[in-house]
Formats: sequence, structure tokens, C-alpha cells
Amino acid sequence: MASPAFNRIMVTAALPYANGPVHLGHLAGAYLPADLFSRYQRMKGQDVVFVCGSDEMGVAIMVRARNEGIDPQDLVDRYHPMIEKAFAGFGMSFDHYGRTTSPVHAETSQDFFRTLARKDVFALKTEEQLYDPEAGIFLADRFVVGTCPTCGNENAYGDQCEKCGSTLSPKELINPRSTLSDATPELRETTHFYLPLGDFQDRLDQWIGTHPEWKPNVLGQVRSWLNDGLKDRAITRDVPWGVPVPKDVAEELGIDAEGKVIYVWFDAPIGYISDTKEWAMSQGDPDAWKPYWQADDTRLVHFIGKDNIVFHCLMFPAMLMAHGDYTLPENVPANEFLNIEGDKLSTSRNWAVWLHEYLEDFEPDLLRYALATMLPETKDADFNWSEFQTRINSELADVLGNFVNRTLTFAARFADGKVPELVDPSDADKAALEELATFPDRIGKAYDTYRNREAVFETMALARLGNKYFNDTEPWHTRKSDPQACANTIHVSLQICASLSVLMEPALPFSSARLRGMLNLEGVRASVPGGAAEGIGWDDAGKSLLQPGHALGEAGILFTKIEDDVMEEQKAKLGATPDGASDKDQPYEPVKDTIEYDDFAKLDFRMGTIVEAEEMPKSKKLVKTVVDLGFEKRQILAGIKEHFKPEELIGKRVAVVANLAPRKMMGTESQGMILMAEDREGALFLMNSGGENGSVIR
Ligand code: MF3
Ligand code: ZN
Repeated sequence: MASPAFNRIMVTAALPYANGPVHLGHLAGAYLPADLFSRYQRMKGQDVVFVCGSDEMGVAIMVRARNEGIDPQDLVDRYHPMIEKAFAGFGMSFDHYGRTTSPVHAETSQDFFRTLARKDVFALKTEEQLYDPEAGIFLADRFVVGTCPTCGNENAYGDQCEKCGSTLSPKELINPRSTLSDATPELRETTHFYLPLGDFQDRLDQWIGTHPEWKPNVLGQVRSWLNDGLKDRAITRDVPWGVPVPKDVAEELGIDAEGKVIYVWFDAPIGYISDTKEWAMSQGDPDAWKPYWQADDTRLVHFIGKDNIVFHCLMFPAMLMAHGDYTLPENVPANEFLNIEGDKLSTSRNWAVWLHEYLEDFEPDLLRYALATMLPETKDADFNWSEFQTRINSELADVLGNFVNRTLTFAARFADGKVPELVDPSDADKAALEELATFPDRIGKAYDTYRNREAVFETMALARLGNKYFNDTEPWHTRKSDPQACANTIHVSLQICASLSVLMEPALPFSSARLRGMLNLEGVRASVPGGAAEGIGWDDAGKSLLQPGHALGEAGILFTKIEDDVMEEQKAKLGATPDGASDKDQPYEPVKDTIEYDDFAKLDFRMGTIVEAEEMPKSKKLVKTVVDLGFEKRQILAGIKEHFKPEELIGKRVAVVANLAPRKMMGTESQGMILMAEDREGALFLMNSGGENGSVIR
């Protein structure tokens, strides 16, 4: 809970890897929530610094650059500006957007490393590690693949198996091979620095215990790491890309620092500090970063996606504790993952909405708003274009836009384009103004406690209130029967519009500015750095902001509806071949031996519709379906539980092998087989087509 003892707010959003453009998943996980929070807090009058930057070190960047045959520096030089531009296009209100290849960052992370080394925090371990004799380099993390000891996945990486999610070390892989040369690695001795996280277990445990208010999904992961017991983590690597281990430190300890760099998950979070330093320098006050990181009355908040929880809730806090000069995060409101159209987001399959591409087609506010209503705050959520369209058409256009439009139209036609006076207000007028007064607090509390979905819902509730009030007071009737009542309706409706133009600011900053233009409302505080810090702010939005007699600006359309075909175009982009390079490197499955036509003719494929689907109890893989083949219904078991939820299968058209001999699985008969396409990553797709149920496929 926000404590009144805080005097400034330091906001960070996870530093995106500069190895590709940013997409919707990024926005949903960290950046939109961080921006909503920062803009709200600035409107509230808080002292906010919001930083972010590109994460440009690390083995992932190196591998990607190698695959393209270019220098890592060239790779990050390509993506850093692209990412920065996409964020700017979406109105991310960073005070500074930096990059971890900057000199300030090298110095900051080396200083941090040095301080911890001199405090004797690190452990040193000399161990045998995998070494590629052909490439002449140690095979850290993603430079080595092999079979996962947990699940048998043959393409597990040295640091993690992406199939079963287990964390690995390169030596645990069975049949390891170098991704650089395909050579079989040999073991060589090398010395590395370790952060002994176990030494911090008790302090971390205690500190986490003081934050029962953190989100359950975050606390759940943190508790499970703590229960397993924290282990030492190597924080240096023998690779040619990264922030070099400081030479002086290595010398003092008698280690050869040549070729050693700091592990990316050690330097990247320090990037937040480097970014704040660069911000301070740009303000002409190089020390201005200090209170934001070091004073007890700073509220530090890290916005991240759920895959970053352990680093922000345990590892980085341990580093900050070890250093001693730093304040710890007040909250780490991590979001879960966002699926798209019911399927897991995948950049290699191009199952993603790229932010730079979105911006070519639509206004940023539309996605900011729609996405804010669908954020994966407590569990994984789904983004789909139909819902996007509904949010725009039935909420932004029909509710918010409509209310603003009818109010301004009435004011222009029947009040001479000015704010009429409120005289002898009716109960309905008073009730509307009283309710209006409660909104800043209601919406604000939701933003302040990281409940963005609720905050935007409450914002829209104010527009709904406006519409209802307008309908109930029927100004089109009172215009003739009771002109003052009509004037009162226009007055109150305009006040609601003015309040909306402030309260919409976090979610819809571009539209809010346009609305203020239509209202000719000036003097509103800025929600972005560098703008007016004084003026009409969040709490003022509960009051009447427009004086009687105030001349309004020119009315315009705030939101236009989106047609179905426009959404179809967007859907068609999903999964289409990306124009950029892909990191899909698995081979295609070889084509099977040739068969004769007669072999093929024996098969009977039919179209059908799944009419029932439920999970098979006690089975990891099986879903029990009933498929309508037109002439009969079949019970068919399919091994697709990990890919589809039963409820999303119902109503789907499928192709079926109709003459497969029935067979029993786990005691239940399956009378056929549902055909599916499986891509190189193992993702499954149903075979849909036209044709009535029972149509023969040949
Ligand atoms: N680059 C990381 C990712 O995309 C996030 C780094 S966050 C930081 O998962 F704290 F390390 F900066
Ligand atoms: Zn595995």
C-alpha cells in the first residue's frame, strides 16, 4: 500500500533486449502498466522519475548477432532506435530511455561490482566448464544445446529448457553440442564470481514478509524460490560481449580478468540506476539520481513480466542489500503472459502484434485503452482483435465519444458555444455532480495499487454516468419546455467532459489532449516529463473545471469505429511470414517414403464440427471430443490438452480420419482421429475448411 511517508517515486520498466522489435506482449507485461502508473502519479502531483532502456549485453544478443553474421554492436544499433521509436509512438512517458552499452552504464555496473567484491560478498569458484575447442570459447548459456535431463527435449539451452521450463547449467545437458561450431565441447577449468544468494535467504525472506500486499502471482513465485532454497549464482561469463569484469578487482584477487564479463542479469538491473544517472546529467544536476535510489522516502517500483520475477524480487534486492547504500523496491507488480487469439505469443512463428506495425495502421490510444482492459494482471489473458474492435466501437466510440460529441454539439447549437450557467439545479444535476466528485479517488486508488483494468473500467464508468445523465434529463425536450433545465444539462455534461479530459490522461493521453482542445481547457498539469508540473491535477478533476461563460473550442470526432474487414486484415497478419529474419532453426520434418495412389485411396477423410470437448480425467495429454460428421457423431480422443482448452474447441471445424479402426486409450474408445498441422516448434493448428459436416476430403 502506498505510504504517505514517500516523497518521490522511482519507476522502472524492464529493459527490453535489443535483439528484435517490441511487440504487444512487451507492452502488456511491463510498459503500459508502468506508463499508466507514472502518468497517474504525475497528474496526482507526485515527484516521479520513470526510466527504461535497451538491454544490450548478454549471450542472447551475441548468439543472434552471430546467426546474422554481424557484430553484436551492429545488432543493438539496429534495434535500439527502433524500440525507442515504437515506445515513443505509444506515448511511453520515460524521463530517460538509455542503453546498456553506454559508458555511464559500464562505469556504474563496474563500480557496483567493485563495491560488492571489496565487501567480500562474492564467492569465487574454479570449475570445469564446457569449452568449444574449435571456436576457442567457453560455452555459456545459449551457446550450448543438448538434451534436457528433466524432459528429454533435445534442444534445451545451457541455461534453460524452454519446453519444460527447468533452469539448467550447461554441464547438466546430455549430449551437449556447441551452437557455434556444432563441435562436442570439452571440459576446461575456469574461475568465476558467484553471488551467494543463500547468504541472503533470511534477509530476503524477512523483507518479503513485510510485503503481504504484493500480487499473489508474484508472492507465489517468490515463496517457491525461497522454499527451494536460494543457490549461488555465477555472475561472470567467459564471453567476448558484455561489461568487462573490472581489472583492478580481478588483480586484487589474483584472477585473470582477460575475456571475463559481468553476467547480463547482474548488469541489466543496474541499468536502471545508470539510466537515472543519465537523466540526472541531462537535468544539469549529476547528483540528482541519488535520492531516487538511496533515500528511504523513495517509493521504488519495478514493472516487469512474470519471467523476470526472480531477478527483481530476489537477485537484484540481494545485490542492493549487499551494497548497502540502496533502497529496496516497494513493489514489483509483475504481470502474467498475454496470449494472442487464443495462442501463445511466439516471435519466431510471427504470432505477435509488432508495435511499429500497429502504429502504421491505428492510433496509439486505441491499443492503450483496449489492452488496459485486457491486461494479464492476475492470470494469463488473451488479446484478440474482435475484442479490440468491441472495446473501440462499443466503449470508446459509443460511450465516451458519443457522450462528448452530444454534449459539445448541444453546447454549440443551444448554448452559443459557451458554458451556460448552472441555475437552480435539479436533483439529477446535483446527483451527477456529487457522483462526479467521487471518481478521482476511485480511479486513482486503482492506479495506485496497480489495478489498471479496474482503473480504466472506472474511467469509462464516468462516461457512462454522463450518458445516463444526459438521457435522463432529456435536453432535447427541455430545450423548448424549460430552457434553463437544458442549460443545466449542458453545464453539468460539460463539467463531466472536462473531468474526463483529466482522468482519461493515463490511459488515453492523446485523446485527452484532443478533448481538452475541444473544450478549450487550458492549465492542466502534464503527465509527461518536461511539461507543466503545476496546474489542474488529478484531485481537481472531481470539481467543476469550466467557468460559466467560458468559450469552448471546436468539436470534433474523438473516436471512429473500426470496420470488420480492418480487423480481418490484422488477423491475417498473425502467423504470416515475417519480413525480418526468424530465429527458427529447427529442420523441417523429412518427407516420408513414397506411396501408391491405392494406399492413399484407402484413407477416408471427412469434415466435421467438434460439438463436445472435455479433458480426460487423469490424462496429461488427452481431450475427449465428440465430432459431428453429419451422418453420425463420433467420440474421438485427441492428444492436445497442452495446446487447446476444451471450451475453445467446441464449435471448431476439423478434418477427421473417419475409417481408422477404433482403439481404446485409458479405457475409453476413440473412433477416429482429428487431423492437425504441427509446425517446427510443435505448435498445433486445426485443419479448418468449408463444406458441410460429412464432406469427403480427397
Ligand atoms: N532484458 C530482460 C528481458 O527482456 C529484462 C531485463 S530487466 C533488467 O527479459 F532489470 F534486468 F533490466
Ligand atoms: Zn526440459
